[in-house]
Amino acid sequence: RLGRKKVKSNIVPEKSENGGWRKDGDKVDLAEQSLLNKLIRHSLVRNRNQVEVLQRDPTSPLYSVKTFEELRLKPDLLKGVYNMGFNRPSRIQENALPMMLAQPPQNLIAQSQSGTGKTAAFSLAMLSHVNPANKWTQCLCIAPTYELALQIGQVIEQMGKYCPDVKLAYGIRGNRMERGIKLQEQIVIGTPGTVLDWCTKYRLIEPKKITMFVLDEADVMIATQGHRDQSIRIHRQLTKDCQMLLFSATFEDSVWRFAEQVVPDPNIIRLKREEETLDTIKQFYVVCKEKEDKFTALCNLYGSLTIAQAMIFCHTRKMAAWLTANLTKEGHQVALLSGEMTVEQRASVIERYRNGKEKVLVTTNVCSRGIDVEQVSLVVNFDLPVDMDGNADNETYLHRIGRTGRFGRRGFAVNMVDSKHSMDIINQIEMHFNRRITKLDTSDLEEMESLMS
Ligand SMILES: *[C@@H]1O[C@H](CO)[C@@H](O)[C@H](O)[C@H]1NC(C)=O
Ligand SMILES: *[C@@H]1O[C@H](CO)[C@@H](O)[C@H](O)[C@H]1NC(C)=O
Repeated sequence: RLGRKKVKSNIVPEKSENGGWRKDGDKVDLAEQSLLNKLIRHSLVRNRNQVEVLQRDPTSPLYSVKTFEELRLKPDLLKGVYNMGFNRPSRIQENALPMMLAQPPQNLIAQSQSGTGKTAAFSLAMLSHVNPANKWTQCLCIAPTYELALQIGQVIEQMGKYCPDVKLAYGIRGNRMERGIKLQEQIVIGTPGTVLDWCTKYRLIEPKKITMFVLDEADVMIATQGHRDQSIRIHRQLTKDCQMLLFSATFEDSVWRFAEQVVPDPNIIRLKREEETLDTIKQFYVVCKEKEDKFTALCNLYGSLTIAQAMIFCHTRKMAAWLTANLTKEGHQVALLSGEMTVEQRASVIERYRNGKEKVLVTTNVCSRGIDVEQVSLVVNFDLPVDMDGNADNETYLHRIGRTGRFGRRGFAVNMVDSKHSMDIINQIEMHFNRRITKLDTSDLEEMESLMS
């Protein structure tokens, strides 16, 4: 078995230091979101996004693999991969694995969400990279939180099940070590603070002997107080020849600058933008007065359509609770997801919803990302997404309505407009995505049926 120290494998809910409060009063905690995604993911998401590959050396041939055999892995490792139920490489893995395993080593920056097989890919790269005969740390992997580090560790342990000579240590808080005694584990996975201490203060790791460095969830990392600097300080101790792999779900400018600082001469794998998903979604707006009016519109909508499952987004917890209570009173089976729940509670609500136990999910912003439920046929913005300054939050809009129209099915998005300001927001969104949002009168059954068929 892998591992020096037994770590509790059940996940302890814990607030990480980051996360500003949004106007809606729900904390958007990127690390929690990411953990939630991992907990609710049972299988790889079928990713419709096109993968775009930019090679460091555009003249060299681009290798992609359709089977794990083509990677010429050690048999024990291949056995571990199959044992995890992976039959063939995911979309991202097809291109990323040959790059990660290339000799001489190549650096990689990859855009990747959970569910694309990213963790499995770099776990495999680390397991394949190490020389089990060398009893020192060769691969270092850092993740933004304790829980995320444990999740990665579990993948490595499972995949490395048949490689008994490869050992793993967790560089996470609470894992006390004796100063100055070098670790024998070939792989160390942990959070930036502890790993930095292990490299510098405690001298458990010889940074110059690290030949592969993995930085996971770079976007979450730099959003977390202190993690950015700690990551850079770890990186500085490594040699120029160390192979660097960096992953991030998003690539805003700040993430990009960080990535370029940490990963010289990279190959780059990017997902093409999500915007094309809008083509399978019909978008509407309904003019309402106040929340009771919106509620009536929602009920009309429900009464006249065959809706498999719907997701409804509200601005505040209070509104979400009000709506849930009133929908329940009307006889709908409603699940409520909101910020005060622990990650485990949220995971279980999503699980029930996915299994169809409830047909309607009412939620605040916290969980608008990354929930893949195939049957969602309707997304309702009970409140429109706005940023701190009251402008249309275009990105959140896309993420929200992207829950529908998935996997080639048609979907509907309905926006509730209750003021001149919210009409302005609709116009901004139309302009931003260059797609029309059609006015819908929910009291006119015939119109509704013809528009939404
Ligand atoms: C439903 O909405 C009405 C009107 O806003 C409100 O008075 C009532 O308390 C709500 N019912 C529930 C169960 O929340
Ligand atoms: C969303 O897009 C519109 C139109 O392009 C723009 O006016 C608005 O500022 C954007 N919102 C944000 C938050 O960037």
